Amino acid sequence: VPQEEPCKDDEFQKLLLTLPEERNWDGTSLYLYQGFWCPSIAIKPVFSFQQHFQALGSDLILASTPKSGTTWLKALTFSILNRTRYTLNDSPLHTTSPHGLVPFVEFDVYLKNKSPNLMLLPSPRIFATHVPYGSLPSSIKESNCRIVYVCRNAVDQLISYWHFALKLRRGNVKPLSLDEGFEKFCHGVHSFGPFAEHVLGYWKANLDRPKNVLFLKYEDMKEDVFSHTKRLAEFLGCPFSAMEEKQGVIQEICGLCSFENLKDLEVNKSGKRPSGVPNSAFFRNGKVGDWGDHLSPSKAEYLEKLIEEKLSGSGLTL
Ligand code: A3P
Repeated sequence: VPQEEPCKDDEFQKLLLTLPEERNWDGTSLYLYQGFWCPSIAIKPVFSFQQHFQALGSDLILASTPKSGTTWLKALTFSILNRTRYTLNDSPLHTTSPHGLVPFVEFDVYLKNKSPNLMLLPSPRIFATHVPYGSLPSSIKESNCRIVYVCRNAVDQLISYWHFALKLRRGNVKPLSLDEGFEKFCHGVHSFGPFAEHVLGYWKANLDRPKNVLFLKYEDMKEDVFSHTKRLAEFLGCPFSAMEEKQGVIQEICGLCSFENLKDLEVNKSGKRPSGVPNSAFFRNGKVGDWGDHLSPSKAEYLEKLIEEKLSGSGLTL
């Protein structure tokens, strides 16, 4: 992970001094900014994103909490949108990580440049973000652009995030025990947490603006990726034709973007993100219910109850 450049922006520096700080799971810092825990590497980019991003009505924003299926959603969205541009065999996914095809605003787009020229990007522009709904730049919420949100059950997400954080550690940072991770997660202290608030923000946006915000669950996608890929294409404004469906295009896209296929591609086995994070860190085992191998049933139940209480009355169950 690259060192953050010393920031010369006075406004930002002043703000940073006022923010509560906690230790992130990989040993870096988290800052409590606008009610969510922002990892130190992302705080300045998030600030720039909020100040400078100008949404276009054609933009697509892929939003998620970390470890909820972002990589999968990026691969599916890219493949759906570019299905007439590349044959399946020529898909850039064979040689590029989904994260290289759909950049994160907070880890890529605004990482080194506080006001990049994004007008030159081909339409539709696709960006990913972990920023909570309430903290998205107002131009996103006021424009007609589409947002796809993916979430996952809290217990699997916690386990996935814990493994991921172990892989992000640098140098002599002491590994965080799962007990410590569990405590932190229950208190909402994890990248872009608290979890329930994040999920609820997008859930409410989906209820208020269903044409603009699609809400997906990892578990539902695992259960029936075909229907969700179809639904995603409809939402994105490029539904599959009857002919495409008959020709098996949907199955082909699902196969290309499957965990098993992507995980075994050389680029995802040995490649790295520009930050140095190995691409393989985004492909662990992709299972629903993996928490069972790590957490006691009583701990899982405790966390599930906690989240359930926070979601109660919203109509959302996870
Ligand atoms: P596990 O750690 O439980 O295996 P994100 O992409 O948001 O960082 O989430 C990563 C999680 O999604 C990891 O979960 C990873 O294995 C899983 N994942 C990555 N690609 C996937 C795919 N194509 N299909 C299903 N799950 C995938």
